[in-house]
Amino acid sequence: MGAATSAYQVEGGWDADGKGPSVWDTFTHQGRDRVFKNQTGDVACGSYTLWEEDLKCIKQLGLTHYRFSLSWSRLLPDGTTGFINQKGIDYYNKIIDDLLTNGVTPIVTLYHFDLPQTLEDQGGWLSEAIIDSFDKYAWFCFSTFGDRVKHWITINEPNMLALVAYELGAFPPGVPQVGTKVYQAAHNLIKAHARSWHSYDSLFRKEQKGMVSLSIFAGWVEPADPNSVSDQEATKRAIAFQLDFFAKPIFIDGDYPEVVKSQVALMSKKQGYPSSRLPELTEEEKKMIRGTADFFAVQYYTTRLVKYQENKKGELGLLQDAEVEVFPDSSWINLDWVYVVPWGIRKLLKYIKETYNNPVIYITENGFPLDEAPSFDDTQRWECFRQTFQELLRGMTEMYSGASVGKQIPIECLDGTGGHEAIQLDKVNLQVYCAWSLLDNFEWNKGYSSRFGLFHIDFEDPARPRVPYTSAKEYAKIIRNNGLEG
Ligand code: NOJ
Repeated sequence: MGAATSAYQVEGGWDADGKGPSVWDTFTHQGRDRVFKNQTGDVACGSYTLWEEDLKCIKQLGLTHYRFSLSWSRLLPDGTTGFINQKGIDYYNKIIDDLLTNGVTPIVTLYHFDLPQTLEDQGGWLSEAIIDSFDKYAWFCFSTFGDRVKHWITINEPNMLALVAYELGAFPPGVPQVGTKVYQAAHNLIKAHARSWHSYDSLFRKEQKGMVSLSIFAGWVEPADPNSVSDQEATKRAIAFQLDFFAKPIFIDGDYPEVVKSQVALMSKKQGYPSSRLPELTEEEKKMIRGTADFFAVQYYTTRLVKYQENKKGELGLLQDAEVEVFPDSSWINLDWVYVVPWGIRKLLKYIKETYNNPVIYITENGFPLDEAPSFDDTQRWECFRQTFQELLRGMTEMYSGASVGKQIPIECLDGTGGHEAIQLDKVNLQVYCAWSLLDNFEWNKGYSSRFGLFHIDFEDPARPRVPYTSAKEYAKIIRNNGLEG
């Protein structure tokens, strides 16, 4: 059982010790009310100087895994290996070494939304040149840290990033645009991932014996009207655009899903484009992309209902051409944009198992936000976590095997360190679960107003004290007791 963070969201030290600016530094410094109260990640949780405090939290929880990301521009200030920042290397070496000394497995994300500004200036994910830059950066990280890091995530939520950064403009570069850009970005993201996987495979795997994947954002979806054929079809399209867009090429055959290709072609025609806005993958590219993940990493937050709506632009994940309207059921518990639907995660895992040939699955993020003025007693949120764990465990013990859930449910089948019998029984090969997040942190456009942490942080206090919420204490308890009351 783990927890996750990302560099820009927690580190601060935005220009400390030779770090170069990332797109989020530029974007937040421009103000313009694109982030809640124009807040920035300049200091955030202060993890750049307060890593020891984070480590205490990790130990207090008894985590088996800690997922964090490397800041590309802290390591390579201008994004290239032409200049390497030793202070950045030292910082991440310390984190990795401390984790290992304490028996915690690091899961390291290479890139979590914070592109070096210099690379954005050269076109960012819209430019093919980024594939080479990313590959060189990945090579640098594998060779520097790979003797100790065995679990790599190349890119965090490429499906979310392409849309939010390159079409909606809510993330940097911050320019809303319509047209081909969202697909161009997605196209380059998938190729960059694949190239770096190959670099690992051919140059490092033999010696380092690690695993490489990418984390895909995937909410679950259900037809709004289960009896409506058009809603059922719309739901399939929603899954295809959101999850399969990246998963099918990587896990199955190198190419985008047929339903995505035909739907984008249809919409492009309707909108008067001379050809489909989705670039085609060449045979060579398909060959390069196919099979480039060693496990299936997925991030689940919420479940929504789907309705067919002609010409509707969806707004979640890469949904904009799917002609779907997505919305939650009003009876679900609502925590900001997260509608809490514990059974959704179970359905998602079942879908992944059945569609992608029973892969090893890591849930690299799952969590629930609190609003701005929380109390340390977040019992209601803990209930959301608890029910989610119960669904995961049911998914693994009841749903597939008919075995009953005893009072004490073995939690070890969630941490990859044991419980393999249980995993075999239920057939979903879930091996790692990471809660989002270890700490309250900079929640992108929502700034510090949305709190996902297991530990509370007072962002007014320069010392940034970490105080456990009830959820942290309960999470620690189930890890310690190796089980959950059924
Ligand atoms: C997914 C993103 O990877 C993470 O950065 C973000 O904070 C959480 N979702 C919550 O929105």
